[in-house]
Amino acid sequence: MKPREIKPDVLWAGAIDWDRRLFDSLIPLPDGTSYNSYLIKGSQKTALIDTVDPSVQDVLINHLDELGIDTLDYVIANHAEQDHSGAIPRVLQKHPEAQVIATPRCKDMLIDLLMIPEEKFITVNDGETISLGNRTLEFIHAPWVHWPETMLTYLREDKILFPCDLFGSHLATTDLYVSDEGQVYEAAKRYYAEIMMPFRTNIQKHLGKIKDYAIDIIAPSHGPMYDKPEFILKAYREWVFDQPKNIVVLPYISMHGSTRQMVAHLVEALVQRGVTVKQFDLSVTDIGKLAIELVDAATVVIGTPTVLTGPHPNVVYAASLANALKPKIKFVSIIGSYGWGGKAVEQLAGMIPNLKVEILEPVLCKGAPKQAEFEALDNLANTIDEKHKENNFV
Ligand code: FEO
Repeated sequence: MKPREIKPDVLWAGAIDWDRRLFDSLIPLPDGTSYNSYLIKGSQKTALIDTVDPSVQDVLINHLDELGIDTLDYVIANHAEQDHSGAIPRVLQKHPEAQVIATPRCKDMLIDLLMIPEEKFITVNDGETISLGNRTLEFIHAPWVHWPETMLTYLREDKILFPCDLFGSHLATTDLYVSDEGQVYEAAKRYYAEIMMPFRTNIQKHLGKIKDYAIDIIAPSHGPMYDKPEFILKAYREWVFDQPKNIVVLPYISMHGSTRQMVAHLVEALVQRGVTVKQFDLSVTDIGKLAIELVDAATVVIGTPTVLTGPHPNVVYAASLANALKPKIKFVSIIGSYGWGGKAVEQLAGMIPNLKVEILEPVLCKGAPKQAEFEALDNLANTIDEKHKENNFV
């Protein structure tokens, strides 16, 4: 897609990656993604905010040529991860006059990752500005979204915030701005769940820091821009601040049907008590969907058969992911069937040290579930319902 004007002399100059289906060799991208680079032509200086993934660096270079950029003064590196920084060496090759503006920590990382020469950098402190003539860029340090070196850039005269990954969404679209709010809400929530959730206390502080800025447009480096910034700011406030909701997430695996019967019984018992349940068969689920539901859930119940004395490997993967993502869940329990013994509960409990949760009494069953296990599952549903009500999770 050709460069597109946002405001006079402020342009989107990125690349849409319609076909990418995996990020970090881990995260599913059902809707592709974009790497948004922005060009700002001031009356005296020209700056490029973030670049693109190296796989599409020629797209960015062609944009700069098409726009007739003879002199590029600054490349602003809000974030050192290569999907935004990876084309900087190519841009510097094309424009050796340009200097890279970054936080001190970002500079070190770009030297490590991309071997950019040290003399190419100008480092900026929190709140520092540079003038492009008739336009001013202000740099807001915002570490840990989601790496330690990150900053946001604010274009004062046009009231545009360029937050790089923060507020982004993995979504390939021809829309410059959000048009389908439902679609973008889900994509942004998925992005938050997979990338930002482990850092939500840092993000709480950053939301406070930008609270008093006048912002007309938020221009992230993935997905469409927000010309109604309150849409994404409100969503982030709910995701990072609010207490969990009256929701149980139930990821499970069943090999011969016994654990599935237990899951079905517990889901029904919870629903009868007014608890919302999000059930995921881990043998087929999109792990990003599971991550989305972890954003708001109060309780996770893991369903697993015992395999070779421990939990099923797919369950181990899901537990490890939940532990890394650090959702705001408060309670965890484990249900499942075993053939002759094992340590599934002990092993799973040891895999989630990051989750500051109360473990509710597990329900394990030798072989197929019988009356005693169904009653135990009803008791677990009672306990979950009571805990949610005591804590006013609605
Ligand atoms: Fe989009 Fe952290 O890179």
